[in-house]
Amino acid sequence: MCGIIAAASSRNVGKLLVRGLHKMEYRGYDSAGIALHQDNSIAHLRAVGKVQLLEDKMIAEKPKSKLGIAHTRWATHGEPSELNAHPHKSKDSVYIVHNGIIENYVELREELIKDGYEFSSQTDSELIAHLLDLYYKETKSMVNAMYKAKEKLDGAYAIAAINIDDNSNLVVARNKSPLLLGIGSDEILAASDPIAIAELTNDFIFLEDGDVAEISAETYKIFDNTKSKANREITHIDISTQATSKGDYRHFMEKEIYEQPEAVSKTVDGRIGGEDVLDNIFGLGSSDIFAKVERVQIVACGTSLHAGRVAANWFSSIAELPCQVDYASEYRYRNPHVDQNSLLITISQSGETADTLAALNYSKERDYLSSLTICNVPTSSLARESDFSLFTNAGPEIGVASTKAFTTQLAGLMLLALSLAKSRGLNPKLRGRIVKALRLLPETIAEALLLKDKMLEIAPNIANKNNALFLGRGIFYPIAKEGALKLKEISYIHAEAYPAGELKHGPLALIDENMPVIALAPESEIAEKLISNLEEVKARGGTLYVMADPSVNMDVKSGSLVHMPKCDFFMTPIVYNIPLQILSYEVALLRGTDIDQPRNLAKSVTVE
Ligand code: M6R
Repeated sequence: MCGIIAAASSRNVGKLLVRGLHKMEYRGYDSAGIALHQDNSIAHLRAVGKVQLLEDKMIAEKPKSKLGIAHTRWATHGEPSELNAHPHKSKDSVYIVHNGIIENYVELREELIKDGYEFSSQTDSELIAHLLDLYYKETKSMVNAMYKAKEKLDGAYAIAAINIDDNSNLVVARNKSPLLLGIGSDEILAASDPIAIAELTNDFIFLEDGDVAEISAETYKIFDNTKSKANREITHIDISTQATSKGDYRHFMEKEIYEQPEAVSKTVDGRIGGEDVLDNIFGLGSSDIFAKVERVQIVACGTSLHAGRVAANWFSSIAELPCQVDYASEYRYRNPHVDQNSLLITISQSGETADTLAALNYSKERDYLSSLTICNVPTSSLARESDFSLFTNAGPEIGVASTKAFTTQLAGLMLLALSLAKSRGLNPKLRGRIVKALRLLPETIAEALLLKDKMLEIAPNIANKNNALFLGRGIFYPIAKEGALKLKEISYIHAEAYPAGELKHGPLALIDENMPVIALAPESEIAEKLISNLEEVKARGGTLYVMADPSVNMDVKSGSLVHMPKCDFFMTPIVYNIPLQILSYEVALLRGTDIDQPRNLAKSVTVE
């Protein structure tokens, strides 16, 4: 959470820093701030609320500077307020921005108070400014001060700092929170996400844990954990401005929903050939490792976890492998037993989710055969720290609610199920059938997007309610859960999901005319049973909205029966999720919520 950006340039940096904050606003948006070096003083502006409010202050005050740091916040310690907003300062001399969490902040704070430092915020971050001030006085070098501070700090951090004594250099440090440098012309930048500075450069250096870097407009020096000079590779990435702007869409979420046919093509293209999946698409040697796999463990959070729950079913039916799925935040705490030849799979859009990363790191101490990530960001920590990977190629996902990331994760996980089956010499005919269905998938998703008009009809009936129930059975239960998550996250309507057979064991008590029930009824052996469950709802006055196979017919009274496009059964979880995304979006639109940046949430959850 939180986004930091810093720049040392031969031109004024105020505007470019604020523009970078706008691009990173998905990381947190409860307050923002900036510190700009002005030779004899440092301009320090902060605002509660979105980055636009900081920009308004900048427009009014017009501070000029060639060296600065800025921050957009997602509150962890202390409410959103101007005093808790970054940058934090120590004695008007050292200013810092921080993304991450300092775990030992209580004891460090007490030590610093004894040393005479005063605190004006409730954050865990302010002490970093005081530590740097203390050690700068001792060492007369911000790089050395940062190393001394690092010895004290426990936790995750990306830090950028400036000092009143130096109007040309700034110092940054990284430990378990993303941080990269951008090499521009006559300027060097640092940011939490390349998106923040993609308009200024295509050349990035991804810092490693333990790195400290000193940056000026002309040059940069990177030092590693042992304080030795480090040569880090420059990575060239083209991030088009089209990918990071809304275009004619009202929200990023809307744009990302309608991008899904193209996004899925990009996940699948070049990874299947003829009637099978290609070898080694998860990395060199992956096909050989897959031949040894006897069990699969998935860890992920939120929407990515739902993708994992769908995939567990595929691994079982296509690759004939047992699979366990855990919330990444819970996995370490259940003392998991690891069977021989187990493969650990992480799933993540951002590749920076702290709980998922922590689970991966924990797994390294256990006896796993190998680790693999399905991830959308090739430069992310998960991508770097896993043995194998498959990038979903969905392009930047900016809306906090995950849409195209989910769909492409499912396509990637299907490729994995096929690869595991192929390496284990299983089900060639079924593999051929699924490969064919994957080729048709973008077209089928495009057809499902045409259900928008039907969702527009349903949306007002959900938007005026306070609760909603989603039902699915089997592989559709995680899709029901994803539908409920999407609705609650962007419309703030309380939504739950149940396997339809569980209804009569408790939740049926909730059914009345104020409880809309959204059900998924694909044609399968379970459809018949699900329809009986829905009759139980109808008999109690509940209104039914059913996404169903064209062969399913039932009287839904005042509700709606929506017939879905026909497709291979293995593709149905992906396709049935599409109208649920549109429904949530249209409901949220009617309720007037902040769809791309829902309250209390942030896109990239880099704290445990
Ligand atoms: O970047 P990740 O996929 O690891 O993020 C995991 C969750 O935080 C994320 O899916 C979250 O649940 C979304 N906001 C849901 O729309």
